[in-house]
Amino acid sequence: MTGASEAGPPIVPVLRPSEYTAALIQALQASRDRVRGARVLEIGSGSGIVLAALGAMGAAALCGVDIEPDAVSAGRRLLGECGLGTMAEFHRGDMWLPVAGRRFDLIVANLPHFPMEPVPVAGRLSTWSSGGADGRWLLDPFLEGLSVHLAPGGRAVLSHNAFVGLDRSRDIAHDHGLSLRIVLTVLVYIAEQKLARMTPDVLRAEEGRSLHRHGPYTFGEMHIVEIGAAAG
Ligand SMILES: C[S@@+](CC[C@H](N)C(=O)[O-])C[C@H]1O[C@@H](n2cnc3c(N)ncnc32)[C@H](O)[C@@H]1O
Repeated sequence: MTGASEAGPPIVPVLRPSEYTAALIQALQASRDRVRGARVLEIGSGSGIVLAALGAMGAAALCGVDIEPDAVSAGRRLLGECGLGTMAEFHRGDMWLPVAGRRFDLIVANLPHFPMEPVPVAGRLSTWSSGGADGRWLLDPFLEGLSVHLAPGGRAVLSHNAFVGLDRSRDIAHDHGLSLRIVLTVLVYIAEQKLARMTPDVLRAEEGRSLHRHGPYTFGEMHIVEIGAAAG
């Protein structure tokens, strides 16, 4: 089969909201008072749906960064369709590079952070849904760059698989004068095809902890975390 790897055929991605995105929006809706008037940045804006939801909640300005050209055009299109085009800007680029030197009141992210090596992905970069062996390939630079991009009193809200080391994220935040708290935890279905690619050490360590298997079906715990200035 063309493009197939030992673990199965290539993943075929679509730019559409996932359960991760839905949980992220749910958590943001629960704190919508803090969204009103905020200058917002999303790293890895994908379809643009999180920014569209934040615009509807009253954000003042919306900025999306994505490494994929298709995502940048999808985001622009969606925000235009939602009547939010004039308050939105999109940049194609890697992580923090397009917004160097800028600060935001709210930074959101739903980064690829599934613990698996990059795999073939039809029409996308091979890192489209992979976070590298430990899942932290994008998570770590995101957390390390956060403090210099948050405005005073600002916060970040992001999706965080429970099986990629929440304590490590807490430590990075702490090292940069920030603190991390869980605002929502949900179970996310992990398709067999994806589970087969999970780093074996992570699977062994997390099965029965943050990974719950019932016959052929597996769910993983996923947190939405909020990161902001550490309390005085
Ligand atoms: C899980 S998707 C996010 C989806 C988005 N929240 C949505 O619901 O459509 C992750 C996004 O991160 C982007 N991405 C991956 N690596 C990136 C990087 N180094 N810098 C910026 N964006 C990146 C991908 O292209 C993808 O659009």
